[in-house]
Amino acid sequence: MAEDSAVIDERRTSDTTIAEKDTMLTVTGLKTYFFTNKGVIPAVDDVSFTVKKGRIVGIVGESGCGKSMTALSLMGLVPAPGKIVAGSIILDRKNLVNLTEKEMCQVRGNEMSMIFQEPMTSLNPVYTVGRQVMEAAILHQQLGKAEAKEKALAMFKLVGIPEPQKRLDAYPHQLSGGLRQRVMIAMALSCRPKLLLADEPTTALDVTVQAQILQLMKKLQTELDSAIVLITHDMGVVAEVCDDVTIMYAGKIVEQANVFELFDNCLHPYTAGLLKALPTFRKSGERLYNIPGMLPNLLQLPKGCRFFPRCESASAICAEQEPDLVDVGQGHLVRCVKYRG
Ligand SMILES: Nc1ncnc2c1ncn2[C@@H]1O[C@H](COP(=O)(O)OP(=O)(O)O)[C@@H](O)[C@H]1O
Ligand SMILES: [Mg+2]
Repeated sequence: MAEDSAVIDERRTSDTTIAEKDTMLTVTGLKTYFFTNKGVIPAVDDVSFTVKKGRIVGIVGESGCGKSMTALSLMGLVPAPGKIVAGSIILDRKNLVNLTEKEMCQVRGNEMSMIFQEPMTSLNPVYTVGRQVMEAAILHQQLGKAEAKEKALAMFKLVGIPEPQKRLDAYPHQLSGGLRQRVMIAMALSCRPKLLLADEPTTALDVTVQAQILQLMKKLQTELDSAIVLITHDMGVVAEVCDDVTIMYAGKIVEQANVFELFDNCLHPYTAGLLKALPTFRKSGERLYNIPGMLPNLLQLPKGCRFFPRCESASAICAEQEPDLVDVGQGHLVRCVKYRG
């Protein structure tokens, strides 16, 4: 993922104007907190975004920002002692927050599925991958064994697994990381979900395989007319495939815009830092950049802006006042005192 600015320019000319499409998912004011014996951790703190049909929405931020907990909240899989304490998650006119575990199970099998960073931990090592994809189809789509096998084979072909017939009988450890991730994608897509959540699906892979998997996801979402929420810490991945982007910092949204607007006109110093960390956004001679400092402890958040202690353009007011998320036009939102509506 070397030429991020070139990638964006190429997409700008090839993507015609973004059509207004049906909204598939609307998340509003989502708060997911962990109730620990040391105190309350606001892992997801008032997060809102929408996902339209046919779009790839990126959720971006450093490790610990609340990306996975956002996705797990959508899936109804937040681990204890975490809990959704506020907000709504509307998928196709249903508020998922109000569903029973049994109803949620239906949603997970049929309308929404998730793929994870490390497929080894999600695949069972003692069964062949073919059997695991078949079982998903038998369980969620009530297919017979022969049908399920045909389905698994078709899915392996769809996700570009070479020698698919032979690979059905392979065990997870016999496949490369890239192939394992393709198996996971096949499994996740076998129920034809409306929405696919992908949590750092390419982070564990090398750059070439990463690019192949991303292109595959982009192709499949067009073919299957679904929508994808893609979680990543890598702006290069965003440049490659995302249409709309939500940047999170310490549980909060700090910036939200479509991908072209974000790369042309990024407003938040945190987003700027993430972009500066990309090789192609560096000016020549500059060293590889890392945002200095660390994510604040979510148990002891600073009083003002959560990013203030690390911000290169902070002023005195930033230590005092948490800025609101404001719309600066065309759906570009930013949370920074420099843009106070
Ligand atoms: N099991 C847990 N118990 C307590 N706090 C947790 C737990 N899991 C996550 N958190 C908190 O939630 C925050 C966000 O986690 P996560 O969504 O996994 O971050 P990301 O996916 O962006 O790396 C973490 O920084 C941590 O403070
Ligand atoms: Mg994560």
